[in-house]
Amino acid sequence: MTFTEQDVADFFDQTTQTYLSFWDSEGVLHTGYFASPDDEDYRAAAARTSDLLAAEAGIEASSRVLDVGCGCGNFLFELAVKTGAEGTGLDLSSERISFARQRQREIGAQKIDFRHGSATNMPFEPSTFTHVVSQDALFLVPDKPRSHEEIFRVLRPGGLFAFSDFLQPRKEIGQRARQHVYDRVRWSSGYSLIEYQQALAGAGFEILLARSLRDHISQTYRVLGQMARDRASTTDDAAARDWMLAFAASCGEIEIAISEGEFGWGIFVVRKPERADS
Ligand SMILES: C[S@@+](CC[C@H](N)C(=O)[O-])C[C@H]1O[C@@H](n2cnc3c(N)ncnc32)[C@H](O)[C@@H]1O
Repeated sequence: MTFTEQDVADFFDQTTQTYLSFWDSEGVLHTGYFASPDDEDYRAAAARTSDLLAAEAGIEASSRVLDVGCGCGNFLFELAVKTGAEGTGLDLSSERISFARQRQREIGAQKIDFRHGSATNMPFEPSTFTHVVSQDALFLVPDKPRSHEEIFRVLRPGGLFAFSDFLQPRKEIGQRARQHVYDRVRWSSGYSLIEYQQALAGAGFEILLARSLRDHISQTYRVLGQMARDRASTTDDAAARDWMLAFAASCGEIEIAISEGEFGWGIFVVRKPERADS
């Protein structure tokens, strides 16, 4: 099935509160990088993913960072604390942007702002940012080449784009993976690791790092499935309980899809050349 940006925005607007209620109440909603195969600490693993991307990108106090598909803003909050970098978050979901702004008021984070908008039509001047980051968001963009053009445009020459994203390692996707992995979150289609690099190179980027990390996504959904089951057993809200149990069931299917090569995850670091035309 092919989804539009509006389908994606509606899904994330409608499910934000449910995700917050069992996944992470502070809005950390991305794949974890686990310390070992029996590590079950999702929050620490999720922070490790952010630390890994920040280190690979070389983000520091003087950096001006754009987070595309920032969701509830957690990556920028962490970057501000750990590096002092200035940050802007952009997300298609007005619910997630509202949550990010509310949290920013609570934390009192300076030098960060949030904008509602799409990766395919960014409200920023060319060469605004030293770094663009993104965690598990760009797979949802129906017109991926357009989002790459936009990221290239808003990065300064020599700037780095460091991100994690979901992969579609093979072309043929079975009915169960289609239902539980793709359609469930309004994801139309993705790239394999090789196709992703070709698409980024086609947009003008130099590839510095491209690594598949599928074991970490499997572990993320194993841990999250258990968290959803635990939370479902203590909630009085019948609709929320049904949603969490359906999510937990999908987690089992997601692990099968990963082992079948129908779903993957990777991290990438690419650079806009110093002598880029735009
Ligand atoms: C899986 S969530 C990840 C959120 C966040 N990066 C995090 O780590 O918690 C994917 C996010 O991508 C956003 N998104 C999807 N399509 C987008 C687009 N075209 N432009 C900007 N954001 C988009 C969604 O609204 C959602 O917040």
